[in-house]
Formats: sequence, structure tokens, C-alpha cells
Amino acid sequence: MSSLTVRKLNVDLSRGFARHWLDGDVYRTAFMNALSMSFPLGEQMFIDSVRAAPPEAILDPGLRAEVKDFVGQEASHRFVHQQYNAELARQGFDYTMEPAIRVRVERIRKLPVRDRLAITCALEHYTAMLADYVLRNPDFLDGAEPRLRTLWTWHAAEETEHKAVAFDVYRAAGGGYWKRALWYLHVSLVFWWDTSLQTAHNLRRDRALGRRSTWASAARTWFGRKGLAWHLLKPGLDYLSPRFHPWQHDNRALLRMWLEHNDDAYRPIGSTSI
Ligand SMILES: [Fe+2]
Ligand SMILES: [Fe+2]
Repeated sequence: MSSLTVRKLNVDLSRGFARHWLDGDVYRTAFMNALSMSFPLGEQMFIDSVRAAPPEAILDPGLRAEVKDFVGQEASHRFVHQQYNAELARQGFDYTMEPAIRVRVERIRKLPVRDRLAITCALEHYTAMLADYVLRNPDFLDGAEPRLRTLWTWHAAEETEHKAVAFDVYRAAGGGYWKRALWYLHVSLVFWWDTSLQTAHNLRRDRALGRRSTWASAARTWFGRKGLAWHLLKPGLDYLSPRFHPWQHDNRALLRMWLEHNDDAYRPIGSTSI
């Protein structure tokens, strides 16, 4: 099992950042900004779901401690992305999908706890796959504003570190295969629909939706040599195996490497040794 550390990120976003902070690439910036916009609501939902698990289901003290640190990590991600999103709002980018997503989150809150956990596991699998991509392909963020590169890779490192926590809680709470698989299929459609629409809204705000260069970058990002689509394909399907567990794909080396090379970027504020 992993051991988690809650870290405070040494990044100050109060002086803002450039509108096209990812190497001037309008599409990639819009896509990453759309993800950032979705995090405060999404991560609060993850926190609420794992906290809703009945304490008598989580008998393992190690898992109980990891849940506490999972909450700590997601709460600090929310805090940092709220600052990030405040700057986007200052730049004139609205979180257009927010009302629809608030309704969805409210509906999820009323579901039985295993369904809430299955939805959290599915979204955590997506964040883990995207995190693996960002850590494995540092050139994806080449030319990015350094503070945002640090922010995104820190988030990716911690998503990697805690990628199995919601999954282990789901199983400890008696969650089975079919519920997990069916919610994953549903979440896959909704997550990419919401993210794509918000990306399109961000591009429209920049009057870049119809530009050829926007779509060339989108095609490269998704279907180029190191495209996201190819990266997501196998682990995306692996989740549908009844024997799937997030640590079957052991990428702790990427996490260790980030921690070693970025020890001035964060301050550990808590840890749970297992
Ligand atoms: Fe997170
Ligand atoms: Fe997470």
C-alpha cells in the first residue's frame, strides 16, 4: 500500500498569469483551464463520498488513515484551483458548465453511498490516467508558465499517490463489479462531454473556436505521436476488468521522481505511514 503526504504548494498565483500560459497554445490552455474549472466541485464531491462511507466498513486502520490524507490532499487541490479559477474569471472566462454540474452533484449526493463511491472511483481513474500522462510526458507542459507547470505536476503527483484510496474504500464498503463498471461507462460519457463543452466555451471566449490552428493543436494533443487518446486507451479499458486494481499499473517511480526533483515546490504538512 502507498503512504500519503499532504503538501502545501509553494506557488503564488496572486499576480495572475498569461492568458495563453501553455506555450501560447490556445487549445491546450483552454483544455487544461476547463479541467481546472471542474476541480473544486468535483473534488468536494470525492471528499463527501469517501466521508459518507460507513466507518464500520473501513476496518483497516491503514485505509482509515489514507482516507484522512486523501481528504487533505483533495482539499488542498480545491484551494489552489479556486485561486487558479479566480484568475480565469478575471481574464473573462466563465465556468459556463457550472449550473449543470451543480445539479448533477446534487443528484449524486442523494444516491446510496456505494453508487457515490463508484462514481468517485471512476473519476479518480480519469484523474489518475491524466496524471500519469502529465508526469510521463513532461514535454506536454513545455513552454508553460513555470508556476502552472509546478501546480499541474504537483496535482498529478498527488493524484498518482492517492489513486487507489477511493477504490479501496468502495471495496471495503462492499461495492461490487457491475456497479463500478456501469458507473464508469456513464461517467466516461459525462466527464468528456462536460470537459469538451467547457473547452469549447473557453475557446469561443478567445474567438478561437473556428481557427484552423486550434483544431490542428487539438488533433496533435489527442491523436499525435504522444496523443492523449493513445495514452488513455489501454488503462481506460483495463478498468472494466473484474480483477482491476489501480496499483496493477505501478507508476510510483514517476511520483518518486517528481518528489525528488521538486522538493523546493512544496512543504509536507502531514503524512500517514502505512
Ligand atoms: Fe485532486
Ligand atoms: Fe483525486
